Amino acid sequence: MYLTKREEKMLAGEEGRAVKKSMEILVALGRIFGADKLIDISSVQVAGVSYHNLGDAGLEYLNELAKDGRVKNNITATLNPAGMDLKDWKKLGIPDRFAAKQMQVIDSFRKLGLEITCTCTPYFIGNKPKPGEHIAWSESSAVAYANSVLGARTNREGGPSSLASALTGKTANYGLHLDENRKAEVLVNIGSGVELRTVADFGALGHAISRKVKNKVLYIKGIKKASVEQLKAFCASTATYGGTALFYMENATPEYESAGVPKDNVAIEKRDIKESYDFLNDDCEPDFVSVGCPHASLKELEKIASLLKGKKVKKEFWIAVSRPIKELAASKGYVKVIEDAGAKLACDTCMAVAPLKGRFRCLATNSAKACYYGRGANGFKTRFCSLEECVKLAVR
Ligand code: F3S
Repeated sequence: MYLTKREEKMLAGEEGRAVKKSMEILVALGRIFGADKLIDISSVQVAGVSYHNLGDAGLEYLNELAKDGRVKNNITATLNPAGMDLKDWKKLGIPDRFAAKQMQVIDSFRKLGLEITCTCTPYFIGNKPKPGEHIAWSESSAVAYANSVLGARTNREGGPSSLASALTGKTANYGLHLDENRKAEVLVNIGSGVELRTVADFGALGHAISRKVKNKVLYIKGIKKASVEQLKAFCASTATYGGTALFYMENATPEYESAGVPKDNVAIEKRDIKESYDFLNDDCEPDFVSVGCPHASLKELEKIASLLKGKKVKKEFWIAVSRPIKELAASKGYVKVIEDAGAKLACDTCMAVAPLKGRFRCLATNSAKACYYGRGANGFKTRFCSLEECVKLAVR
């Protein structure tokens, strides 16, 4: 792999130990995946922020990097959700010991120069790359959103490799950075009988497609339109269950005219969507309701406030959201309505990365991705339904 003179020096340690370590990671990845060179990036999204996932070994690694590592100038560098609300963690029942460790993790990221905006929807809060920009993101739903909805270019990075990109301003030139790997591989025909109305329906669609095709660039035909919220739910679901990092959706995402003609095709019919709903629904009575996976938009908070107005929740009810969107929602009065109803805005975190194992038995959610993590990491049973149904389950 070709390295410029300056990159050689970075690799040799002339710009410090953190840059050296980061270059070693990027060069190793480049060699494994056959990259010809490194390229400059403009934005990173770093996953692996929750102490729940990092543990002491991860914290030690960050502390080491923070001794002399700093995010390169001109790079927008944001963080994925942490294991707790960084201000109101007590309200979410997070143990003190965990909170102390989580704050050490955040301090290390702060020293490294990352913006402490812990969210999986960075594109709602200013980390929104332009079409064609090369970036290094490591949150699977955000990766799918960046490639497919924003038209930017990123591989599915891991936490360490995206952090390495932040500290060097580089990534290896392979995979979805290259035109030839961005051509559609499988045509997905959505049958005319398929009704896609809610955010949950788009999550079910992602799940249904993933049962038929995995790890391919998709060309999806037959959807008349899709909102930002529906697209973010689809991204989360198709990335989680199908490993999708890039899709084209006719009439809804950019560049679909130049996506190429796929050789293979699959069909999705009404019964496929029903089977996904059946798969994601267990027979259980929810004791925990969580929406905002990926983190809620302002429009979703407005909707939740309208559904909760004048009501009281009887179950633990979390709405995961970024802090800037919560503040915007507060200025419009939505937060007061939601909190008066007894629901909780879970800022900076979510039900998948917070330490919740053993606290609940049955999660109700409108996110197919949340079902995956609720079942897998936390051992919950799941109920998968629309936002309206989730609110009904929370207040009954
Ligand atoms: Fe975001 Fe957590 Fe869902 S990181 S995509 S809210 S599992």
